[in-house]
Amino acid sequence: MVAVVEKIIDLRSDTVTRPSAGMRQAMAAAEVGDDVFGEDPTVRALEEAIANLLGKESALLCPSGTMSNLIAIAALTERGDEVLVDAEAHILHYELAGSAVVAGVQLRNFDAPNAGCPSPSQLDSLRRLADPTHEPACTLLCLEQTHNRRGGSVAPLVDLKAALHHAHSMGLMVHLDGARLANAAAYLELGLSELAGCADTVNFSLSKGLGCPAGSVWVGPSSVRQRAHIWRKRLGGGMRQVGVLAAAGLWALEHQLPHLNEDHEKARRLADGLAEIPGFSVDPATIQTNIVLMETESPADFVLAAAESVGVKMVAFGRHTVRAVTHLDVTAEEMDEAVARLRGVVPGK
Ligand SMILES: Cc1ncc(COP(=O)(O)O)c(C=O)c1O
Repeated sequence: MVAVVEKIIDLRSDTVTRPSAGMRQAMAAAEVGDDVFGEDPTVRALEEAIANLLGKESALLCPSGTMSNLIAIAALTERGDEVLVDAEAHILHYELAGSAVVAGVQLRNFDAPNAGCPSPSQLDSLRRLADPTHEPACTLLCLEQTHNRRGGSVAPLVDLKAALHHAHSMGLMVHLDGARLANAAAYLELGLSELAGCADTVNFSLSKGLGCPAGSVWVGPSSVRQRAHIWRKRLGGGMRQVGVLAAAGLWALEHQLPHLNEDHEKARRLADGLAEIPGFSVDPATIQTNIVLMETESPADFVLAAAESVGVKMVAFGRHTVRAVTHLDVTAEEMDEAVARLRGVVPGK
């Protein structure tokens, strides 16, 4: 018998949200110009607002977080350089090796369970000898906050600062993949500029918890922006009357940014419920932001199919690992509903 499901509860990602009525109105009313000529006033306003919010000199609106990360890497390195990333980093797993294909760099990973933030001694262990005939120049460290594959976890500010200072002392620049930096700031109850201060450049996404239809902003020093701007154009990321997207971003800063902790509460509520289902293993105490990773007794594919049959969508993060992400298009009550539906179909001992 096929279950009749009233509403799909889509927990695949916080990217699945649809622009709200207020956001659409702001987009429709946006003043625009050709941004490749630097003539879109709304884009300029958004870039200035985000640079200020993150305490950096400049910003550059990109179509996606993947492009913003790639631009950051390309702008801060030379071909043949080495870039340090956590073993679970989005840049390593989900960006189709763009940094190798396009920027020509080698990624070298370390395993940092502390939300992907390496300790100074860990960085020391990766130190290259000054031997340019054999070893690549290691020039960049990439961090990620919140950390996606590490369950939306957040490293303490003190650890991020230590990583930045140590990386600088080793001659490395630091890029922060802050696709969900706003979630980290909400969790830590810190200003975005304090967290962004732990890196030279930052990728800040508009299309995740902030609910915009697209867009991610590269943020960093004006001197690096020139190179970033060239890379954006080279990659085909120069957009024209993109003030319609920038208006969504400005709207989100005002209306969505203050509410991210609500998504975190939903994630905890979901985790509390899932912890009671025998086929899932999840520790609610580890949930910090809007991502819930759960180990599944049955193979993840099986669990996802069973979940989908009752109108709950999630994604696989491993053969026995499933990820659910909360966002502004699901309610707290729907977390209970999702748990109730899953309880009926996910087998466990
Ligand atoms: C941590 C992280 N970085 C970067 C990205 C890439 O963003 P986009 O999908 O806009 O390319 C994502 C997307 O989910 C992400 O989770």
